This record gives sequence, structure tokens and C-alpha cells, in this order.
Amino acid sequence: MLLEVDNLNTYYGESHALQDMSMAVDEGELVALLGRNGMGKSTALKSIMGLVKPRSGSVKYKGKEVTGFLPHKVARAGIGYVPEERRIFPRLTLLENLMMGVKAGRVGKGGNGNIWTLERIYEHFPFMVGHGKQKGANLSGGEQQMLAIARTLMGNPDLLLVDEPTEGLAPLMVKEVRDILEDINNVGVSILFVEHNLKVAMSLAHRIYLMGKAYLAFSGTVEELYAQPEIRKKYLEV
Ligand SMILES: Nc1ncnc2c1ncn2[C@@H]1O[C@H](COP(=O)(O)OP(=O)(O)OP(=O)(O)O)[C@@H](O)[C@H]1O
Ligand SMILES: [Mg+2]
Repeated sequence: MLLEVDNLNTYYGESHALQDMSMAVDEGELVALLGRNGMGKSTALKSIMGLVKPRSGSVKYKGKEVTGFLPHKVARAGIGYVPEERRIFPRLTLLENLMMGVKAGRVGKGGNGNIWTLERIYEHFPFMVGHGKQKGANLSGGEQQMLAIARTLMGNPDLLLVDEPTEGLAPLMVKEVRDILEDINNVGVSILFVEHNLKVAMSLAHRIYLMGKAYLAFSGTVEELYAQPEIRKKYLEV
């Protein structure tokens, strides 16, 4: 397993936001983490990334303990994180935003030889070609989301954690971002993503984790989730 999360418990003060959470991502997998608002999906990603400190349990990456590491150490180990808020620097150019990802990640070789150069980024994100000098603030929501993904790729991660990549985007952009994730996975980057758009999640993911309030309610393939309407109804549909 590339990523192994074992019995993770995370608290915000007295509030038990993640209860005995266990999940895993294998090399090459595209895995979705689903659930209604406030269930703890972002907390799960943040706990893996070291942005919130779990009280107990473990996170192993490539067999090595990374539990409680600072976020930059987790990034150096090869995990990239694209936050829900995207955090594009509005006054920096597209190119400057991209280059910020180099510092945040790891220098040199990705573990599976996945090295991202600007040239390679432009191949996968053709909208960027010729727009390197455009200010972050002037990019559309979809372009900012793609830039946030591309910036994280510049740190050569083997695993990408992506929180709500299609949130708030126009339908055409939803499809573009969806296709980008598939495309990046196809060239060898494993992905764990949180998604509210079921159509996107079900069409992309190889496997699904579904959260109830602070706990894991279901784990299985897309087909298995389709075959269990009562689970979908309880944990997903309104
Ligand atoms: N920094 C924080 N301090 C205190 N409570 C928090 C904090 N962040 C999240 N929470 C609470 O923890 C719970 C889980 O939040 P989390 O953001 O992980 O949910 P989520 O599944 O990502 O929801 P959404 O779909 O709305 O993004 C919620 O009840 C939320 O209010
Ligand atoms: Mg969230």
C-alpha cells in the first residue's frame, strides 16, 4: 500500500472529528472520499497531511510512519495536498504561482520517476500556454483550480490529496477538472479526492470511502455502492 491510515482519531478541542478512521490507497489508485457536509472529510485529509494533529492512530506512507509530521515533511515524503480553498496568490502571475509548488514539494526525482517540468505541466494543462504572465486574480475559478493542482504537481508527489476540486465551478469546468484528474492518474499519480459531485466521483473513482459523522460508513467499489441504494440514501442523498 502507498498510503495506510490506521485507526486515526482527531479532535477539535472536545469535539471528536475523526473516530477510528482507517483507509488505504494503493499505488496507481484513484480513490474518492464522500459524505455529507461536516462529516469529517477535510479533517481526514488534513490529518494525513499533518495540518491537524491526530491524537492517536497512524498514517504510513510507503511503509514509513509519517503520523504527526509537519506538513512540509509530509510533502517531502511525496504527498501533495490541494486544499479546498485553492489558495492561488492573486497578485502573483500564473507562472509564479506554479513555481511556488517547487519549493513546497520535493526537489529532484519523484518516487516513481514522476518529475514535473514546466514543459510537462503545459502539455497537461494547455490553457496555461501563453498565459504565464496572467495574474492569479484574473483566472477563472476553474483555471485557479487547475493551477492549484498543477502547482502541487510541481513538487513531484506520488500521491495527491485533493479536497473538493469541482466545488463552485461551471459545468464545463467541472468536466475539465474531472478529466485532468483522470489524466494525471493515468500518468502514474495516485489520487485521494473528496468530492460532492456524485457523477464526477462515481465516474472517476476506482474505489469509494463514505463517511458518516466522524466515522467510516462504507468502503468498496463504485459497483458495490451502486448495488446498495440504502447506503447511498442514508449517507449521500438528501
Ligand atoms: N478548525 C476547526 N475547529 C473546530 N471544529 C472544526 C474545525 N474544522 C472543522 N471542524 C468541525 O469538524 C467537523 C468536520 O469538519 P470537516 O471540515 O472535516 O467536514 P467535511 O466533511 O469536510 O465537510 P464539508 O463537506 O462541508 O467540507 C465539522 O463538524 C466541523 O464543524
Ligand atoms: Mg470539507
